[in-house]
Order: sequence, then structure tokens, then C-alpha cells
Amino acid sequence: MCGIVGYIGSRNASDVLIDGLRRLEYRGYDSSGLAVLHDGRIELRRTVGKLSKLINNVSKRPVAGTIGIGHTRWATHGRPSEENAHPHMEGGVAVVHNGIIENYLALREELKKEGARFKSETDTEILAHLISREVRQGRSLEDSVMRALHHVKGTYAIAVISRHEPNKIVGARKECPLIVGLGQKEVVLSSDIPAILDITRKALFLEDGDVAVITRNRVAIKTLNGQDVERAPVVVDWTPVMAEKGGYRHFMLKEIFEQPRAITDTFRGNLMEESGDIFFSDLSLSPGDIDRIYIIACGTSWHAGLVGKFLMEGFSAIPTEVDLASEFRYRNPLVGRKTLVIAISQSGETADTLAAVREAKRKGAYIIAICNVMESSITRDAHWNLMTRAGPEIGVASTKAFTTQLVSLYMLSLYFARKLKRIDEKKGRELVQELVRLPMKLERVLNESGVVEDLARRYFHYSDFLYLGRGINYPIALEGALKLKEISYIHAEGYPAGEMKHGPIALIDENMPVVVLAPNDSSYPKIIGNVEEVRARGGRIIAIVNDGDREVKERSDDFITVPSAPYYLMPVILTLPLQLLAYYIAVFKGTDVDQPRNLAKSVTVE
Ligand code: M6R
Repeated sequence: MCGIVGYIGSRNASDVLIDGLRRLEYRGYDSSGLAVLHDGRIELRRTVGKLSKLINNVSKRPVAGTIGIGHTRWATHGRPSEENAHPHMEGGVAVVHNGIIENYLALREELKKEGARFKSETDTEILAHLISREVRQGRSLEDSVMRALHHVKGTYAIAVISRHEPNKIVGARKECPLIVGLGQKEVVLSSDIPAILDITRKALFLEDGDVAVITRNRVAIKTLNGQDVERAPVVVDWTPVMAEKGGYRHFMLKEIFEQPRAITDTFRGNLMEESGDIFFSDLSLSPGDIDRIYIIACGTSWHAGLVGKFLMEGFSAIPTEVDLASEFRYRNPLVGRKTLVIAISQSGETADTLAAVREAKRKGAYIIAICNVMESSITRDAHWNLMTRAGPEIGVASTKAFTTQLVSLYMLSLYFARKLKRIDEKKGRELVQELVRLPMKLERVLNESGVVEDLARRYFHYSDFLYLGRGINYPIALEGALKLKEISYIHAEGYPAGEMKHGPIALIDENMPVVVLAPNDSSYPKIIGNVEEVRARGGRIIAIVNDGDREVKERSDDFITVPSAPYYLMPVILTLPLQLLAYYIAVFKGTDVDQPRNLAKSVTVE
């Protein structure tokens, strides 16, 4: 968690840093700060709470200077306070850090014995002391950083400036992302792509163990032992406009409405409408070489994985298990050389997923990553990558990343099924054509967003919700409940509808709205039964039904109608009204939709 930025060039550094932090605020928003070098002095600004506080502070007392570093924090060690906010300073050295220094208590004791005095409760302040100790002995900033990092156990992406070398930033990474954006006589350093886009789209993606020595005209990459390394620059295919709200009130709403485009971009270029063939040019794995699949992911991406099991087993008949990445490593899963692990992650930086990937790789598994961020840690560890083309997702609640993950899983399972000859050409063509028609159907759902908004107006004051779904749509019930919890802080549970009678039915009364996913598939008669069970106990039903539905509508208090689609694509369609419902309920409640309390977009701690 946390976002770091650095800038060196000819612009006002505090403006660039604040713009960068605005783009990284999704990574944490407990406090923020910046340090700018000017006239041999480092000017430090730190504020508790949202970035707006820092912006306010800097606008009242502007900071001059063309080199600086900045930070937005998701607290791990030490509560959110000004003293614990980054940058941390010691002896004319300022440091921002994303990650966790695991041996910080031992190092702190050691430094205290040498006379160091600490001003914060953070692990990061250790780094400022360690680096400054080396600088005091006359070493260059890069040598000091390298020597300091040799003492450290844990994870980090750091940016460091020093008043002793006022024309240099040093960055380093280990298991936390760090990108160096290469402009014209200016360089910007950042935890993520969106923060470099206003300056450049040409970037170096640092690898673990890299140290970047950055001046206005040159970026040198070295190992922790000081040897030079070559990293080829990459041109990023995201644009600055993609990372803006574009007239929407919130990023989340914009991202919900972007889904037809994001899905089209994700499947375009990977399928042949005529033959129904799906192709992944970079994927050399033959499904005949594997005998089982594990899908591993966290949060919303895990919900996509649960749908993925239905797709993989339904289309390609390969036994598939789905694991929460945080559990996978600790249960000794049966992973071997014929196992394929599919890791799903929007950010590609989720620590639990990354650790699970490494463990599976160590045991000999093939790894495919389904990921939205190029050059992210998970994509580097995977053998093959299927990139979702959702574009930058800034809202903390994941929306377009989820539906593009579903589409990637649909394509991958069809690809395997075609290769294994479990689906013939005619069937393949039909399934591909249904996918091509999907974005149009999603447009129709979005055009009816007013219906969902009216519904939200009538339901936002309830304090508990139950979401029910069956089969492939049970994970969508989980996802609907997660969206509501995350952004409106309303308690919500997703449940397989058939399981309700084994416990949760005890919760049902007139104060518990029940959102029922009732598409017209083979479980429809059973869903009617579940609706009756809720009604008999005074529960309020909000049903999501297909065009032409009568029976569920008659039994519901409220309903939302969506277009029909084949069983395996219905989860994508059903997701949209649930995203909109959570969104509008949160808006009526007045919560912070894009930056809900206690959360961060990419969870880089285990
Ligand atoms: O970046 P990832 O997809 O790996 O993130 C996984 C979860 O942290 C993420 O989906 C989280 O649950 C979202 N806040 C859900 O909206």
C-alpha cells in the first residue's frame, strides 16, 4: 500500500508531486506529504487525512524547487498522524517508502545505541537514519542507499533526496512497484503508471534489487552491489485522459459506464468471429499438458475466479479449484508439474496473490496471470499473461476490472475447450458471437441506471442486506454484497440461494432486503421457491430478472430487468445492476465512494 512519487526537472516540483499523489491517492489516504529541495534546504510538508489537506497547506505556503519526493499513506506501523506521515527526514536526507521493514525494531534498538533519536513510530524512519549514517561518513547518496538497504529485511519501494547532493533522486525496489518515467530533461518516479502520464508515457519498470540513480539528464540503474544493469524502456498504452473522471461525479461511476468499451477492448484481437476460434499468440501452453487448474486471487478477483471454475469445468472439463490466495500457501495444495495456476489480479501487486504464485511456481506449476497492469509484479512472475484491457481503475471498489476478468476467463476456457476438441466449430462460433453481442446488452443495462438510482433512494437507510444467487451467479451475489459493504459500510452477505434455509433464513424479517439474482436459467424454478421462502417471513425482495419475466416479478417488492444471455455470460450482465445499486446507495448515504474508509486499492501487505 502507500504511493510514492519523485520528480526532478524544471517544473515546480510540488505541483508535479501533488498531481502524482492525486493519481496515487487510491493506494492509501491516511496522510500525505512531500519534501522539496531548494537552495540547499529541504522543505517538508505533511498533513493527516486526505490529500486535499496537503494541497491546502501547500497553496497557503507554496514550496519552491524543482526536485522533490511525495507520499500518500495507508498506515501499517503507527497510527495516521503528522509525525508518522512521510517523508521522514534525518541529517538532511528525506525518504518516502512503500512496503514494510520487518526487522525495524532490531535496527531501531541498534541505532538508538548509537545515539539516534526517533520522531515517529514508523518502520520507515529507520531508513532515513540508516542512509544518513552512511552520508555522514562521506558516501554518495546512491552508495549510502545501497549500504543501508543491505541491513534491511522486508519489502520496499523508496525514493530518497539529500541536501548534500541537491541534483539527484535515488529510488530502489524490492517486492513493491517502482516506475521511472522518462521525460525530456525531466524524470518522474512513481508507484504506478497513472502518476507519470502527464509527463511521459516512456517508462522503465524497475526489477527487485534495482537501484535507480536519477538526475535531470540521466537515469542509471544499478544492483544493490553497485553493478550497472540495463533496463529497456517501455511505452505505456494508457493515456492521461483515461486516468481522469471525464465529467463523472466519481471514478467508480465512470468505470461502471466504461464496461462495454473495456470488455470490447479485452476480447478484440483474440477471436475470429467466422470460425469461433480464440487465440492467444503468446500462450504456448497446451491444455493437454495439464491435469488440474487452481485459480488463486483475492477479493473481487477471487469472485471472478469462482465464476472461472464454472467456465473451465463447463467448457473444457479440466478439474478446477479456486483458492483465496491468502489461504492457498498455508494448506499445502497438491501442486505439481501438470498443474496450471491462474492468478487473477487487477493491480498485479496484491501481496497474497504474488506470494501464492511464487509458491506454486516453486512447486513446478505453470502460471498464467490475468491482470490489468502491465509490467506489474505478478505479470513478471507468471509464465504467460492475459492482459485485461480495462484501462486504469482508480475507484477503490473494483468494477470494470472484474467484468473484464470474467471475459478473459470465458475466452481462456473456450480456447482450452477448442484445443481439447470438447467444443466443435459450430458451438465455438455461437459462443464467440454471444461474447461479441455482450457489450451492446451492457449498454442497455446502463441506459436503465435511473431505475436502479430510484431503488437506491428507497433502500439506502436499511442496515443489512442479503444477496442470493445460484450456480454460476452465486459468486455474483458475493460480489454484489462486497460492493455494498465496501463503499456504503452497510452489512451485506452473499449466499447460495439453496443454502439459505440452512441458517441465514433466521435473519429474515421486514428490515432485511434480499437481492435475488433470478435469471431465466435451469435453476429458475428453485429460485422461485427461495423467493417464496423469503416472502413467507416478511422479507423484502429486490429481484434482478430477465426481459419477459413474470413469475419472480409478481413475487417481488421491486425488480430490475436485464437482457438475457447464455448461462456462461449472464454473470457479466447481472454484475452491472449490483454495482450501480451499491454506488447509488453509497451516494445517498454520503460516504466516500472512491476512497472508502480503511481500504486501499492494492493491498501489498500479506
Ligand atoms: O488488485 P487485485 O485484483 O489483486 O485486488 C484484490 C482485492 O484486493 C480487490 O479485489 C478488493 O477486494 C477490491 N477492493 C474489491 O472491490
